[in-house]
Amino acid sequence: MSKKITISCELNGRTQKIECYGMDRLLDVIREEVKYTGAKEGCGEGECGACSVIMDGRVVNSCLIPAIQADGSKVTTIEGVAVGDIINEIQKSFLKYGGAQCGICTPGMIMATTDLLSRYPHPTEQQVRDGLSGNLCRCTGYTKIFESVIAACKEVR
Ligand code: FES
Ligand code: FES
Repeated sequence: MSKKITISCELNGRTQKIECYGMDRLLDVIREEVKYTGAKEGCGEGECGACSVIMDGRVVNSCLIPAIQADGSKVTTIEGVAVGDIINEIQKSFLKYGGAQCGICTPGMIMATTDLLSRYPHPTEQQVRDGLSGNLCRCTGYTKIFESVIAACKEVR
């Protein structure tokens, strides 16, 4: 039987040592070992974006990332975007403009939006659509999500 290893990463701004098996998925380690349950498992195949986290500055599907790959990296989950109890402008926009319904896709949408705005502070509508193209939502029909992101861009500026 394979032995557990210890990886170390900066998770939501804090150094975190995590014991895991080498091929454990980052999603499982974050949810089950660290108990950050904001990232969700939808498809488990890299298709839906529900598990999105930001790793070393880019959004990734944590269901596809071996945990060992996170060793030495910087990872941000939805739990890391608010400051204490104060939600950030992207989260406020999703609340205000109805960008969340059941909420399953919402953490991933917000992480993808965070990534998008880090690359395009003033995105066009097409860039918003492209930036969120890896994130599926079965509730909203996307219009309210796009409105939330566009509104968030104005606030973040
Ligand atoms: S659960 Fe990771 S992309 Fe769907
Ligand atoms: S709000 Fe339900 S899946 Fe997007």
